[in-house]
Amino acid sequence: MSREIRFNAFDMNCVAHQSPGLWRHPLDQSWRYKELGYWTDLAKLLERGLFDGLFIADVLGTYDVYGGNHDAAIRHGAQIPVSDPLLLVSAQAAVTEHLGFGITAGTGFEHPYPFARRLSTLDHLTNGRIGWNVVTGYLPSAAQNMGHDDQLKHDDRYDHADEYLEVLYKLWEASWDDDAVVRDRETGVFTDPTKVHRIGHRGKHFTVPGIHLAEPSPQRTPVIFQAGASPRGVRFAAQNAEAIFVGAPTKEILAQTVSNIRRALREAGRDPYSARIYQLLTIVTDETSELAHAKHAEYRSYASAEGALVFMSGWMGVDLSRYALDEPLGNVESNAIQSFVASFQSIGADGKEWTVRDIAEWGGIGGAGPRIVGSPGEVADQLQEWVDETDVDGFNLAYAITPGTFEDVVQYVVPELQRRGVYRTEYTPGTLRHKLFGKGDRLPEEHRAQQIVREVRANRESL
Ligand SMILES: Cc1cc2nc3c(=O)[nH]c(=O)nc-3n(C[C@H](O)[C@H](O)[C@H](O)COP(=O)(O)O)c2cc1C
Repeated sequence: MSREIRFNAFDMNCVAHQSPGLWRHPLDQSWRYKELGYWTDLAKLLERGLFDGLFIADVLGTYDVYGGNHDAAIRHGAQIPVSDPLLLVSAQAAVTEHLGFGITAGTGFEHPYPFARRLSTLDHLTNGRIGWNVVTGYLPSAAQNMGHDDQLKHDDRYDHADEYLEVLYKLWEASWDDDAVVRDRETGVFTDPTKVHRIGHRGKHFTVPGIHLAEPSPQRTPVIFQAGASPRGVRFAAQNAEAIFVGAPTKEILAQTVSNIRRALREAGRDPYSARIYQLLTIVTDETSELAHAKHAEYRSYASAEGALVFMSGWMGVDLSRYALDEPLGNVESNAIQSFVASFQSIGADGKEWTVRDIAEWGGIGGAGPRIVGSPGEVADQLQEWVDETDVDGFNLAYAITPGTFEDVVQYVVPELQRRGVYRTEYTPGTLRHKLFGKGDRLPEEHRAQQIVREVRANRESL
């Protein structure tokens, strides 16, 4: 008996998120990213398809690794122009009841104090449907425009993020007691000051002595998303993440990655299934196999090979314009997404080394993840195979065109999976965390944040 399959939608506040060139397709509406109507319609569509959530990616820099400048990125609209992800959510929450929202924000660019309040605000306004995709950055241009010479080294970025999260956990979990707000009309006390505590954080990077500004929200800490599959990334995920996003090109690599993550969760003292793992994937489907393959061929005719190399260069931290098209990646060191580099240094599904041409073709639709093309039945067969053979929980679905790709999934694939008994037919009520794990709104006792809370309380009592 196959297990349940989960879907997330992957989008970004820009055009043709991971499908460079596809903005030219006559049915693509990603150019409407500046309109609230695009985002509210998308949210309603995904909720109709009973998706876990909408994951909104973000970068705070340009893809200027390819060719050593940002000209190609700007020409192709490759995640530039790009607008802020957070501001979309209130409107989307107002037109939905269940859909979760995973907002990407980097730990390198904003002080945790104001950030903590913004996420608490969204957790209130969404009634506990907010997740935060914790990213440590990979584009040097982002760091440079924040006044640094370059980004921190790969592993140092995670060390910095460890403290960033420590501050946030203290603010979200240890500042306000659950019963601090009394709203007592008789006595005129809105909040009991003895139940609101300073966090007293003094660390290497941050000093935050005071209290959190927002009262406890339904989940307190938003559901923590993470995407990083290098050894240091996995260690960070194992301590913090509740939803983990991976982009493995083959089932074999995915199975290995999932097993590493589950082992790391166990080693961090957590249930190996206390984080949901989603594989990046693009589905191209239609009523029949022939129509789906014709659709795929048509999409491919719009894909930009140079745009794909702009992305791949940025993700890998390697300037692919310096390679001949038939050259393999070879032995390179990366200060960007190490797991992507490792994937494309390995042997492809056809038993041959990946060349730059293969990488450009692969990345033209749906970024670094694979594509499944076929009739609803064929797609469902393959999704079940991926889940059964890799132990992954679900898929983070990129689009070729939007909302068309998501409409096709909702119209064709969701009903097929439901018929097979492997896709939910209704939402569980409650917060995003409760929907994901069925164990309540708050972080479980064995999560890193709870240990930090226990230490804060012990220090408080010893004063
Ligand atoms: C599916 C997926 C989505 C990601 N989305 C973002 C994003 O929106 N913004 C970002 O800055 N990094 C993003 N990343 C990069 C990761 O957050 C992380 O920085 C990167 O994977 C480096 O980690 P690693 O070297 O441990 O793999 C994404 C990675 C993956 C695999």
